[in-house]
Amino acid sequence: MTCPDSRPAELQPRLTADGSFSLWSEAFQEGFHCDRGALGEAQHTFLAPAGLELIARNRSVRVLEVCVGTGTNTAALLEQLSDLGRGMQWWGLELDRRPLAMALAEVSFRSQWRPSSVAVLEQLEQQGHWQSNQSQGRLLWGDAREQLRHLLPALRGSLDLVLHDAFSPRVCPQLWTLEFLGQLGSLLGPRGRLVSYCSAAAVRQALRLQGLELASIRPWPDAPAHQWSNGSVASPAALGNNQQFAALSTMEEEHLKTRAAEPYRDSSGRADAETIRAERRKAQANSTASSTNGWRKRWQEVGNFRNPR
Ligand SMILES: C[S@@+](CC[C@H](N)C(=O)[O-])C[C@H]1O[C@@H](n2cnc3c(N)ncnc32)[C@H](O)[C@@H]1O
Repeated sequence: MTCPDSRPAELQPRLTADGSFSLWSEAFQEGFHCDRGALGEAQHTFLAPAGLELIARNRSVRVLEVCVGTGTNTAALLEQLSDLGRGMQWWGLELDRRPLAMALAEVSFRSQWRPSSVAVLEQLEQQGHWQSNQSQGRLLWGDAREQLRHLLPALRGSLDLVLHDAFSPRVCPQLWTLEFLGQLGSLLGPRGRLVSYCSAAAVRQALRLQGLELASIRPWPDAPAHQWSNGSVASPAALGNNQQFAALSTMEEEHLKTRAAEPYRDSSGRADAETIRAERRKAQANSTASSTNGWRKRWQEVGNFRNPR
């Protein structure tokens, strides 16, 4: 994440519409959260579909967070689990130390959370881990692909929840490949869930190819009609329908039959974004899948296909 002249690319603080703190990344040309609200996104997109209240009560909840950033999802998770009287074992992956440090330097960010949550984020920033009566966690700094390899042997098949909050597949395809998503899927316990804001066909198809069940996160209650999904949930277990998510609609299923569903691939686990995008463009050019434009035109009456982020 450096500029061509090797200065670190800038991160700009900004407030989202619900008044919560966020950042804008110059390097990725994307915000860390949706404009409507960092706090709202943590709640509606990540925690509500996670089904924390359904997890067996005789042990701690086991969570991996991919792309910790400012720690907004981490703090929201800590507070929700504390309200449920649950302990947590947590692992986090993040490349850049600046977002958490910048968030903790902001009074407005700190005042969003209970002092105990701020204390956990401070320990993560300073020591890379925390431990309390009920919970413990470890933050692995570095490229998530590299760091995940260290966790795979110990965590395989054991997690209740993976929160995946990388920048979009278009700008950060490294963290949305068939291989990386496959590794994340392999960490899930039998009823575990992977939750992401992303509804891209390439991501959903990659998760389905790993044998995971899929559901589409419902748009926010007052979202404009064209926002057809607020993200995806994937699990080894059937997901069904509830207030937070539903089975993929006919339109979404058809999306997975188009060239847009060609997965990103990175067999070395070290490829850069442009190489991954170029490989996918080649595969799409040779694909016999139907045209995404044709799909879009067929469904244009009911959606404008804009990613909610
Ligand atoms: C959308 S932001 C995460 C937002 C975060 N969940 C929050 O609440 O602030 C994406 C994050 O991915 C991190 N990132 C980008 N490339 C990465 C990589 N290869 N490995 C790990 N983290 C990466 C960025 O530093 C950024 O913090």
